[in-house]
Amino acid sequence: MAIAGTQEGGSLPFTEEVAERTAAIFERIRTVVPPLEWPLHAPEIDAINRLKAERNAIVLAHNYQTPEIFHGVADITGDSLALARRAAETDAEVIVLAGVHFMAETAKLVNPEKTVLMPDMDAGCSLASSITGQDVRDLRKAHPGVPVVTYVNTSAEVKAECDICCTSGNAIKVVESLKAPRVIFLPDTYLATHVARNSDVEIIDWQGRCEVHERFTGAEIEGFREGHDGLTVIAHPECPPDVLDAADFVGSTAGMIDYVRRERPAQVLMVTECSMSDNVAVELPEIDFVRPCNLCPHMKRITLPKIRRALETLSPAVELDPAVAARARVAVERMLAVG
Ligand code: 13P
Ligand code: SF4
Repeated sequence: MAIAGTQEGGSLPFTEEVAERTAAIFERIRTVVPPLEWPLHAPEIDAINRLKAERNAIVLAHNYQTPEIFHGVADITGDSLALARRAAETDAEVIVLAGVHFMAETAKLVNPEKTVLMPDMDAGCSLASSITGQDVRDLRKAHPGVPVVTYVNTSAEVKAECDICCTSGNAIKVVESLKAPRVIFLPDTYLATHVARNSDVEIIDWQGRCEVHERFTGAEIEGFREGHDGLTVIAHPECPPDVLDAADFVGSTAGMIDYVRRERPAQVLMVTECSMSDNVAVELPEIDFVRPCNLCPHMKRITLPKIRRALETLSPAVELDPAVAARARVAVERMLAVG
């Protein structure tokens, strides 16, 4: 019997059977997903989990995905580094990347034979769109012999022009692994500053910024500290330097989650994208998450109905120019070898 619920672009009924099959998921996430929304999410989650089995597919979800995706349909969750690593290890024939476009390209680079689905091809990234392959070639000409490290938040075309990739989780380690006195580090100027401050390597940067993290300010963080006694502040290294100065810990999204799991602060401010606190609060309900946060409009383009449609139609699939992919793959594999 249908209970309620219609979904834009094709409704799936919220039947008693669906309610029963998804009850355990709802119980887990009911503190972060409004009960009124559940009749919309549950039939999608149920359909996606059935389609995954039929297609021999897995869903890889970034930590910034909404709780109904992160806890409802993801097989693997993590930061950019974990998603790249796990994509390289999977036996599934189809990978659905619940994240942004550069993450799906990275998954395709390490899995050229597999079908990698990107539920919304317009889910971009302000860092990835800040630089082109030609920009990297020009920088190499301006700084001959200086190695180029490229953040994974870039297109395959840009990765193809660099020596090695990095993520926010291993940027310092990757830069130091080159044993060079100077390194070109692209495209995030704030992550570049963070690396320069925490290593002896001279960094030549690019003026790219994450549109989500650049909006936080040190003054804002200090304001929250004044209003909350004993507040722990943890920040992503894509934030400006004054924000990182005001933080108790700086790390990738996985690093931030590990910190909260380990330290169990009574009250924490995660200076990053909004879904992070929701997703971690499901696991650690005793922690008080202070929630000023910024939404990533690109991450939020991914929805359950789009994931379902991708699995139904096996599209849109990521395709890469083989010559570009071969060069970009080397840079990603070098990074995975460093750790
Ligand atoms: P990580 O999850 O690798 O820390 O990256 C954050 C980010 O902004 C990805 O888009
Ligand atoms: Fe890009 Fe920032 Fe969004 Fe991550 S959070 S996808 S870095 S715009």
